[in-house]
This record gives sequence, structure tokens and C-alpha cells, in this order.
Amino acid sequence: MNTGKLDATTALELAAKSLFEMFSTSALGTLVIDREHRVVWIDEGYKRFLPALGRAEHDFVGRRVEEVIPNTLMAQVVETGQPILVDLLTNSAGTFLVSRLPLKDEHGEVIGAIGFVLLDHPETTMQPLLAKFARLQGELDAARREIAAARRPKHTIASFIGSSAAALEVKRQARRVAGTDSTVLLLGETGTGKELLAHGIHAASRRAARPLVTVNIAAVPDTLLEAEFFGVAPGAYTGAERKGRDGKFKLADGGTLFLDEIGDMPLALQAKLLRALQEQEIEALGSNQVERVDVRVIAATSRDLAAMVAAGSFRADLYYRLNVLPIRLPALRERLEDLEALTEALAEDIARRSGLPHKALSPEALEWLARQGWPGNIRELRNTLEQATLMTDDAVLEPRHFGAEAVVGAAGVAAGAAGTASAAPTASAELPTAGARLLRPLHDQVAEVEHAAIAQALRASRGNRVAAAKALGISRAALYERLARWPDLAAQNE
Ligand SMILES: Nc1ncnc2c1ncn2[C@@H]1O[C@H](COP(=O)(O)OP(=O)(O)OP(=O)(O)O)[C@@H](O)[C@H]1O
Ligand SMILES: [Mg+2]
Repeated sequence: MNTGKLDATTALELAAKSLFEMFSTSALGTLVIDREHRVVWIDEGYKRFLPALGRAEHDFVGRRVEEVIPNTLMAQVVETGQPILVDLLTNSAGTFLVSRLPLKDEHGEVIGAIGFVLLDHPETTMQPLLAKFARLQGELDAARREIAAARRPKHTIASFIGSSAAALEVKRQARRVAGTDSTVLLLGETGTGKELLAHGIHAASRRAARPLVTVNIAAVPDTLLEAEFFGVAPGAYTGAERKGRDGKFKLADGGTLFLDEIGDMPLALQAKLLRALQEQEIEALGSNQVERVDVRVIAATSRDLAAMVAAGSFRADLYYRLNVLPIRLPALRERLEDLEALTEALAEDIARRSGLPHKALSPEALEWLARQGWPGNIRELRNTLEQATLMTDDAVLEPRHFGAEAVVGAAGVAAGAAGTASAAPTASAELPTAGARLLRPLHDQVAEVEHAAIAQALRASRGNRVAAAKALGISRAALYERLARWPDLAAQNE
């Protein structure tokens, strides 16, 4: 009905008018700007703010508002035609509760804006609200700091300890490749620090604030690798995967993807990986859409990729693609001059993590360590130091703490468990009788036999884990699971 509509309009107009009157009479100050953002009028009240803004009236009226009132949003109100009903404005004059409304002509065109300073010192009058705001702001800052700390890479290139020529060269190359987006290939025996360096390169790259995502190719069963890399489209499978899931390429978008044990990549998937590397495009399983990703790949392996290419078990085209920037990490025995610095850094880390006092090494102990072969490189050195640290309360480690006279553990166990005459007289003297050996928890005995069998298989395959798993009739993943349990075996790669 016509009259009803008119009444509503009148009511609204009245409300607007009284609201405006209330604003303008109770406001501490009012200013009006035109369409060009120029201050055209200020009321008596507003003049009190001019000294703090560093302006005289003649130097204020007629100027563009953004030039004379720092941080104001009046211009934005003119440009968008949208009011900002309540806001806090902070500048040299203080903090104010302000309200800003667009001014429109009869055709609805914006011709300027009006601003009210409703309260000054809102920090006293609006105490509860501001306190809440400050608390939330504080919580937000703390959460942001936490996220940044969690994202901050664990290792930098400087965490790669060593000042030998070989170590310095590795770090020089790592710094150089960090500045690029190219694929990097880290080559070196087990335990030489490939994973550590991958973290360092990521941390030194422009991608440092984005994720570093790792796939240990050897630890994922072949049949699951494709989904692991490229993800699964929703509805592609039933059951747990029904909703789909992102692959590691997607998770690493904007960051770095670390492909560990790349030499264990099944041939069938190598072609797909090559395509993803070349095109920076991925296709989730069960999807027919390609998706662009921005990922830098760092690959690592302790295997001889060139030999694998020659043998036909690694694609030549993928090898060349990965081998653009190879970095070869030296074995520990090639840089024994770093041994002292390494033991010192490792001993410190072991002390920090175990909560035990820091242990020093006698010169004799260092000498003894330098005479060892270190097939497991720095990981093996670390394990050796850790064991010695845990086994004694002495503050200084001596050769005897490393079992200098004893025989290497794995060989002794292998011989004993196999029931053959022990090759090590000192070890055999300590071995319990056969009857006593069998009257122990079955779990321990089975573990010993497994340990010995895996050690033997790794020796026979010269550290080739795929061949070792095959010989033992277990999956690669099963082998890796045991290697994770027994670091001394993981270190045994030759
Ligand atoms: N240069 C180094 N300085 C300090 N610590 C090191 C260095 N190199 C390796 N380490 C330590 O040795 C251990 C093994 O290193 P890492 O896991 O990086 O080896 P890897 O080359 O990836 O071995 P694998 O081929 O068996 O996976 C880690 O605890 C690492 O922190
Ligand atoms: Mg590794």
C-alpha cells in the first residue's frame, strides 16, 4: 500500500536525520571532503586536532585529505561510495574512534564524504573492547611467530660441518644451486649428509618460507608411489580414498620436493616423474585434468645412477634431467681432517638431545676413530659416539669406550646366530652356551636372526637394498622398516 511505503520512507529519513544530528552534535569534530578528496569544511570542534597534525587552518582546508591526515580512509569512502561506520584511526594526533559516510547527490552520485571524530582517547572510554582487541592481536602475533618457527628449516648449509677442501666445495656448490630453481642431484654414500644438505639448500633458497616435502621412494611400496606423488582425485576409489587426497607434488607447491633414494624409483613411474619435472604439471590418479605446480626438486641417492642407466634399470632421459646440477658428497674417510670438528658437533648434539653431560674425546680416541673405515659415514660416527656416551659415566671418551679391542658387533652376532664357529675368539669367549642362548625371550632371538640375515644380505649385495630385500624374500618397505630399527645396518652399505 502506498501510504504504508511512504510512512516507512519518512521514518527512515527521520531516523537518518536524527542519526546525523546526533553524530554531528555529539562528535568531537566533523570534516567534509569533495569528490577530489579536498577538505572543503571543518567544524569548530575539529580545529582542536590541527596543531597535533602540524597544520594551520589555511594549510588544511583546500588540501587533499590524504596529504593532511595520515592513515585516513576518507578517500576510500569517496572512491567506493561505501561508508565505514566505525573505525579506529591512529596518527600523530592520537587514536580516535571515527565514522565516515559518503555524501551523494539526488541522483545517487558520490560528491564527497563526511567524517566524524566520535571519541578521542578511546583507550580510556573503550577500555574493555580495546583490551580484548589487544589480547587477540597478541595471540595472533604469537601464533604467527610459532608458525614461522615451525616452518623455519631445521638445517642451514652451515649445519653441514666441515672445513676440509672437499666439505667447503660441497657447501660452495650448495650455495650456488640454492639461488636457482633447477633440479639438484645429491650423490654420496649412505650417511654422508645428503638429507641434511637438501634441507640446507631449501633453507638458502627463495622457497625457504614454503614447505620442504620429502618422499623416501625406497620406503613406499611401488604400487602406492604414483598416488603418493600425484595424489588421488575424489571418487577415483572407494573406501578411505573416496574423498581424494593431494600428492606430494601438490603439497610442495611453491616449495621444494626432496626425492630421497631416487635410484629406487620403479621404471614405470620414471617416465611420469620426468614429465612432471619437465612440464611442471601433474595429473592426479583417476582425474583427467592436469594441474600446474611450482616445485623445485632435490633428488638424492647413494646408488650409482650412471651404472644403473647402463644396466637399463634407470631411464637415461630422467638421469640427464636430474643430473643438471650434481653435487657429490665426500665419504667421511675422504675428509678425515673434519673428524674432530664433526665429533665435537655431534657430541654436543647428542648431549643436548639425551640430557646427558657433554663428553670430550681423548686424543687417543680421536686417533682410533680416524683409523676406522666408516662405511656408514657420519651417521655411523654419530651412532658410535652415541653408544659410547650412553655406556659410560666417564667424562672423557677413550678408545676402550668404543670397544677398541672388541670385534664389530654385527659380524659377531651373525656368526653366533648362524651357529658356525665364531670367527672372533674374544667374542666367542663371551658367548653363552647354546642351551642358555635358546632360553631367552623368543622376540630377542628372532630379532638377532633377522639382524644377522639382513647384515649378510647387505654384504652379499654390496649394499644394494633392492637386491638384499629380494634375496631375503621381503619387500623393500619391510627391509627399510628394519633398517630404521637398526641404524648400524642402515650404515652398512658396502
Ligand atoms: N656434514 C655434516 N655435519 C654434521 N652432521 C652431519 C653431516 N653429514 C651428515 N650428518 C649427520 O649424519 C646423519 C646422516 O645424515 P643424512 O641423513 O643426511 O645422510 P644421507 O646421505 O641422507 O644418508 P642415506 O643415504 O643413508 O639416507 C644425520 O644425523 C646428519 O645430521
Ligand atoms: Mg638420506
